Amino acid sequence: ERDLKTKLLEINKIAATYYYHQLKSENGQVGLSYLRKRGLTDETINRFGLGYSGQNSKALYRYLKDKGYDDDLLKESGLFTYERGINDKFWNRVMFPIMDINNKVIGFGGRVMGDAKPKYLNSPETKLFDKSRNLYGLNIARTARKNNLIICEGYMDVISMHQAGFNQAVASLGTALTPGQARLMKRYTDQVLITYDSDEAGTKAAMRAIPILKEAGLSTKVINMQPYKDPDEFIKALGAEAFQERIDNASNSFMYEIGVIEKKYDRSDPESSTEFEREVARKLTGFSQKLERDNYLNAVCRKFNIQMDGMRELVASYGNQSG
Ligand code: GTP
Ligand code: MN
Ligand code: MN
Ligand code: MN
Ligand code: MN
Repeated sequence: ERDLKTKLLEINKIAATYYYHQLKSENGQVGLSYLRKRGLTDETINRFGLGYSGQNSKALYRYLKDKGYDDDLLKESGLFTYERGINDKFWNRVMFPIMDINNKVIGFGGRVMGDAKPKYLNSPETKLFDKSRNLYGLNIARTARKNNLIICEGYMDVISMHQAGFNQAVASLGTALTPGQARLMKRYTDQVLITYDSDEAGTKAAMRAIPILKEAGLSTKVINMQPYKDPDEFIKALGAEAFQERIDNASNSFMYEIGVIEKKYDRSDPESSTEFEREVARKLTGFSQKLERDNYLNAVCRKFNIQMDGMRELVASYGNQSG
């Protein structure tokens, strides 16, 4: 088992180096120009060890076979597909090596250079790669010396933020944030800023992530990317200073949650509005300390235009019911 992991790390390292050299080769120009077109500098490309997996769908397989690795081992690496013979899983994609906190390559993501589907392929879980316990970019972010970590959705978001100086950015890579990932972040920081995509999927993901981060003891805020879709697009359009302003103005996660909840209701309708206020009251009972609960109650009533006395009464009545 130990030996297997060592061998798989070795294979991943060879693959990452191979993809990297491909990107710099003549064949790789298509990948390199794609990454440059997306605004990445050579320094960024090198720092993240980005690469290119070529059009020949057996190139990496043959390369590793020539080095003497046997088929059983290669199968465990997750780098190949076995549907129509053995082929490189990531052929014709730009490559993002995924590293653990010790800079060991544990998996890969690969993006098509156009609009083909699927847009990204990721390594399957292997003996090395446990998606629920790793975060893309944390190997760099852990040394960032910032007083927070920024969590986003994607590879390109992490890379764009790092390039703009926000080197505390990490990504959960399309999977919902897990308690294991939250605990991992808690080892390096006390505050997490969420900057998921500003679409419905991103909003849902943020709503699910907030309680998980809280549970891990992390203070949590949400950065608003509107009217842009994600941090990569935001930074490309408005630059680093504007992004820093959004960080400075990030919402308290509770206020963010209430804002999302409010959208389910029609505040101009008395019945719907009352339902909304009941939901707010129930959420406020979640604060067990009176002082904290009162502070949130005051803030929420001011921001969402709720009658304060009525809310206080409602919260008290719910509080009594639950003991
Ligand atoms: P770009 O178009 O390159 O900017 O990608 P994005 O990161 O903005 O894409 P999106 O918001 O759709 O997805 C966020 C993250 O989810 C990506 O970085 C991937 O890790 C993952 N992801 C996106 N699309 C796919 C897919 O088709 N398959 C898989 N397995 N993962 C995906
Ligand atoms: Mn998508
Ligand atoms: Mn998305
Ligand atoms: Mn996105
Ligand atoms: Mn994007």
